[in-house]
Amino acid sequence: MASLTSRIADLQDKQLYQELNWTGTFEEYLEIVRERPEVTRTAWQRLYDMIVSHGFDEYTDSKKKVTRYAFFSDPFGHGADAIYGLDITLMKLVNVIKSAAYGFGTEKRVILLHGPVGSSKSTIVRLVKRGLEEYSKTPEGAIYTYDWNLDEPGNEEGWISSPLHQDPLQLIPLDMRKKAIRELGLGEKASRYPVPVKGELNPACRFRFQQLMARYKGDWSKVMEHVRVRRYVFSEQDRVGIGTFQPKDEKNQDSTELTGDINYRLIAEYGSDSDPRAFNFDGEFCVANRGIIEFVEMLKLDVAFLYDLLGATQEHKIKPKKFPQTDIDEVIIGHTNEAEYQRLLNNEFMEALRDRTVKIDVPYITKKSEEIKIYEKDFGATSERVRGIHVAPHTLEVAAMWAVMTRLEPPKKHDLSVLQKMKLYDGRSLPGYTQDNVKELRKEAEREGLEGISPRYIQDKISNALASEKGGRYINPFIVMNELESGLKHHSLITNEEDKARFNALLNDVKREYEDIVKNEVQRAISADEDAIGRLCANYIDNVKAYTQRERVKNRFTGQDEEPDERLMRSIEEKIDIPEGRKDDFRREIMNYIGALAIEGRQFDYKTNSRLHKALEAKLFDDQKDTIKLSTLVSNVVDRETQEKIDIVKKRLIDNYGYNEESATDVLNYVASIFARGEVKDRK
Ligand SMILES: Nc1ncnc2c1ncn2[C@@H]1O[C@H](COP(=O)(O)OP(=O)(O)O)[C@@H](O)[C@H]1O
Ligand SMILES: [Mg+2]
Repeated sequence: MASLTSRIADLQDKQLYQELNWTGTFEEYLEIVRERPEVTRTAWQRLYDMIVSHGFDEYTDSKKKVTRYAFFSDPFGHGADAIYGLDITLMKLVNVIKSAAYGFGTEKRVILLHGPVGSSKSTIVRLVKRGLEEYSKTPEGAIYTYDWNLDEPGNEEGWISSPLHQDPLQLIPLDMRKKAIRELGLGEKASRYPVPVKGELNPACRFRFQQLMARYKGDWSKVMEHVRVRRYVFSEQDRVGIGTFQPKDEKNQDSTELTGDINYRLIAEYGSDSDPRAFNFDGEFCVANRGIIEFVEMLKLDVAFLYDLLGATQEHKIKPKKFPQTDIDEVIIGHTNEAEYQRLLNNEFMEALRDRTVKIDVPYITKKSEEIKIYEKDFGATSERVRGIHVAPHTLEVAAMWAVMTRLEPPKKHDLSVLQKMKLYDGRSLPGYTQDNVKELRKEAEREGLEGISPRYIQDKISNALASEKGGRYINPFIVMNELESGLKHHSLITNEEDKARFNALLNDVKREYEDIVKNEVQRAISADEDAIGRLCANYIDNVKAYTQRERVKNRFTGQDEEPDERLMRSIEEKIDIPEGRKDDFRREIMNYIGALAIEGRQFDYKTNSRLHKALEAKLFDDQKDTIKLSTLVSNVVDRETQEKIDIVKKRLIDNYGYNEESATDVLNYVASIFARGEVKDRK
């Protein structure tokens, strides 16, 4: 039996470790570059290729062609961490990155993600950072740097890394580099991207390079014997290739955090504060070289940083204290909240930044089905299993519905409600509305998605509901809608009473919509008796056939010929609003359809005609509603026979609709109360 330690050790991928920590000579690196010039890619090229390496596809949405990058839908191959419903935004982002990769100008810009709180700006950047880390571990994403050894060659002690993890090619003096690259057979067209020739060594390496050059009287090849090339991986944890800058309070910002700082202990050793060996090139810009730097809340940055930021962006240079400008190559991406952006619109920081920035709006999701996915991450089926909670059907849906509705601009057309607009955006069809109308609706609403309720608010309220209700194990739409409503009163970001009133009104719309949804669902569960629907359908078709062919129908029970049963046919057709004047058309359509099938030798199946299916269900429900006497549930006196019927329905709700015992009972009671209300009304 292997020891526990060795069993764990077996999990380790030793070969991968060796690959990722490969070291070799400068000569060997030149061979690598010759074979795979892409190891020398710029930061933008690397980022673009990383995203594309996950694949992409194209689709059309409201007549707009959209490219969807798989990296953002399933970045790490296990379905988690995806960005939903923002394909167009992400496409814009990737286009900026692409244009920077090809040197069309955006490589000299800051990318500024801008949007309301909780629109996934931080999440997008976090994904990109992690994506780069993972990519650097793959063969396609391999990246190399070098270390120095100042002792005699062969002495393996005392390797000193390039503090900026620069490409070993930068050890070739700039005046020779272009020729050298051609010598390697890597002229302009040799690879997808030309091998970059720009960039001087950083001051610390330059100092060592010059020391060694002096030692060997200018013999560059001897100097290279002190160099070891190594593969390395990006790691935010280790501060390699991935930097993050987060402004602290305004008084406390210090530019050394970006560019590095004097090491006072080493000044004593080297005797001067301008000796590069006494300087830590470990500012965030240094750390992020060849990778990416994120500026959290970029507009909160102190103006004192402005020049560092602009230099890094425009010139690809930083200016560490006491040292000349130092070349860097990195993606600079920041984000800012809508409110902060508005506040600083006219501030000097913004003025200077504006034309060096590519602003990308990251709005809230405006498609219900996409919004739901955010909540499913935390409260969906997996989470239910793992945490042993139960989220009743439609709970996340009503929350998403409301969240999306608060973000939509009221339609200019008065006959369209916000609820209907939400449905149109979600891909549902409404009579009288085409894809062109939807496109127009999207166009006329300029700030849509930049305001409203954030997903974070919803996430918090669902969590609250879970923590407080029934021991935190079960929630349903009502519990959550109540939580959403009561939370509004104390919402710190919504101070405007008008908005609050509007949001409350929308919540009422959602409640009514939910009522419809569950009424339908319970109705379907009650009438889910396929045999009964089949019989009803056959009966209906017999009658329609006789009607359209002006014949009599044979009564299935008595065997007698009778006139077509107009009342039966109408009672079904009325369920789907077929007016008297249209009934002939409707019946003929159905008969044509059945006839066409018959020619192909196929049988008609009502399930392939969703309208008819719905009509039949509704009719069956009507017929059965009274026998089940749902409304007696409300009065709590239920006879045995009724109870048995109710139990069958409950079981269907549990087996086919995602309910559990508790939520099915609740929903049946609720629907019963709706019908009870209805009956009271009817009696009046
Ligand atoms: N479009 C989206 N797709 C996936 N998750 C989202 C989306 N929008 C918001 N979220 C989720 O909402 C929360 C807030 O996102 P975050 O990135 O912190 O927002 P921001 O930085 O814009 O304030 C996170 O849990 C995030 O996963
Ligand atoms: Mg954020």
